Amino acid sequence: MKSPLSRSVDEITGSRRLRRMRKSAWSRRLVQENRLTVDDLIWPIFIIEGKDRREPIAAMPGVFRLSPDVAVKEAERAAKLGIPAIATFPNVENELRDQTGSHILDPQNLINRTTRAIKEAVPEIGIITDAALDPFTSHGHDGILRDGVIVNDETVEQVTAAAVIQAANGADIIAPSDMMDGRIGAIRDALDANGFQDVAIMSYATKFHSAFYGPYRDAIGTGGRLQGDKKTYYLDHANSDEAVREAEQDILEGADMLMVKPGLPYLDIIRRLKDELRMPTFAYQVSGEYSMIKAAGDNGWIDGEKAMLESLLAFKRAGCDGILTYFAPEVAQILKG
Ligand code: PBG
Repeated sequence: MKSPLSRSVDEITGSRRLRRMRKSAWSRRLVQENRLTVDDLIWPIFIIEGKDRREPIAAMPGVFRLSPDVAVKEAERAAKLGIPAIATFPNVENELRDQTGSHILDPQNLINRTTRAIKEAVPEIGIITDAALDPFTSHGHDGILRDGVIVNDETVEQVTAAAVIQAANGADIIAPSDMMDGRIGAIRDALDANGFQDVAIMSYATKFHSAFYGPYRDAIGTGGRLQGDKKTYYLDHANSDEAVREAEQDILEGADMLMVKPGLPYLDIIRRLKDELRMPTFAYQVSGEYSMIKAAGDNGWIDGEKAMLESLLAFKRAGCDGILTYFAPEVAQILKG
């Protein structure tokens, strides 16, 4: 056959052949720009009342709600795997949920009890708590609801009080996920005033209104109860400049770390924040992202393990310092070899 090329490939490329470095495994290793390590992982876990309890979550195959004693065992396993930190989310008993989420202030609530138990048994692992009202409110919102409106300032008071109690019970990092204005500064002031200068704040700085939180709401039992949506407080997922403004504001108010949430559909936001603000930047690979990869993998539609590793490395490439992921123990095991 006569070549359809009017010039040779060397003439076209000027002899620059990018495939040269991809030829062997050793050269691919040498030029690899990003790596995923166990140090990048934060493991979110769900907590439920009881003893010796591991309750499957229908929408998240392979993820369980754990009673506090089991959470301690899992924290021990995570520490042995080298996972630096865990993040806890409670499934609160229905009768403890009310209009203002008042049970969040109870030092004996699931979150505070679990923090204390893990701190005592596994002091080497970092504990991140979400100072958010949604597991505690009867309406499933992350704020106090009055006449159909999520009221900002009163919610900030409630979340700030909760953050101090979580710190007093041993939380190392407070991660408020409610997106109220002023919460970071208020929490920083209150932590400092109460002697918790060393407790850090990871701001859910850019939390987008998203369909990808669906399975999480099943996990903490808010799915059916949520009235309306969260568009008056979460970011519109059409916006990028506004996300940068949110993150800038949180830095000014005292955030130590930023988080982008969800993860994979928002890699552009991660890159912008890292380039423009140069802060420790984290992604939350949320429940819906987990379940998509897991379900497709379990059905044999994709190679679940490869897709999991590819998605996590993508966060590193986008500029993340770490990732909250339900895959954490599975990945840590793989990375261990
Ligand atoms: C709420 C909260 C949510 C998640 C973490 N904290 C969901 C929501 O805002 O409705 C989502 C986590 C996930 O989907 O994995 N404070």
